Amino acid sequence: MDFQLILDEINAELRPQLATAGGKVASYIPALARVSPLQFGIALRTCGGKTAAAGDSATPFSIQSMSKVFSLTLAIRALGEAMWDRIGREPSGSPFNSLVQLESERGIPRNPFINAGAIAVADRLVSQGDAKAELLALLSRLCGEAVHIDAEVARSEADTGFRNTALANFMKGFGTLDNDAATVLDVYFNQCAIAMTCEQVACAAGFLCRDGRHPLAGTPVLSAAQTRRVNALMLTCGTYDAAGEFAFRIGLPCKSGVGGGIVAVVPDQLSLCVWSPALDPTGNSLLGRRALELFVAKTGLSVF
Ligand code: DON
Repeated sequence: MDFQLILDEINAELRPQLATAGGKVASYIPALARVSPLQFGIALRTCGGKTAAAGDSATPFSIQSMSKVFSLTLAIRALGEAMWDRIGREPSGSPFNSLVQLESERGIPRNPFINAGAIAVADRLVSQGDAKAELLALLSRLCGEAVHIDAEVARSEADTGFRNTALANFMKGFGTLDNDAATVLDVYFNQCAIAMTCEQVACAAGFLCRDGRHPLAGTPVLSAAQTRRVNALMLTCGTYDAAGEFAFRIGLPCKSGVGGGIVAVVPDQLSLCVWSPALDPTGNSLLGRRALELFVAKTGLSVF
């Protein structure tokens, strides 16, 4: 399959829609509100190491909730099965920052990809060591390039992260957070503020399409069984209350972020990242979702 041709076609088809598609950049984090919505990038890397990219694929953007895949990976590596002691594995059917479910379920987040779940994962990483440094080191190793935190975005998150602060305090109140809420939130805000390009994310997610093996070195990042589980969670929980619609229309494990990125996995074939900052009402990239639909239609690649 000529992936470069396919990505060029998708870019050519979607780029004219940038001005008219609608959607809104995330505005509840002021530093993200300043990003131009008129950008679209797409990149992939096959299990065999072939790459293809089109549009703004080399422009760094805020990975936001896509970081949750990698923090979960670190926590599974460190804790194994114990990672799941106080974190569920069911779709939430609620917005990613919802407080209601966490209250009624007594501080146990539904899954590691909603904000409460990712804050709980950050808590477990804080107990293990220098979580921020370890996450940056993992991402840098996985994509073969140094990856950084955008300090302005991190500050902006911390200044306006009222709902996340409430989620962390709820968990602390229920006794399901081990560490100090402020320390855990600092890790969470900084992981969301990591900046990467589509090309870097597509490479970094490569272990998810190759049974857990490092995309560049071939060494194990996760076991094959652990990798299947991360992919299953991405499919069922990776795009919040749009996960059913994503499975129905796209049929690939995906994880989105409010920076407008979506990382997707075709097991045994390739990993893919699309980015366009304007979001639909569920907080997922509007043109990113369209790009994935086009990709699946053009290639026939899907887990179903
Ligand atoms: O905590 C937040 O609200 C953001 N830093 C991340 C949310 C996010 O990316 C959800 N994604 N769709």
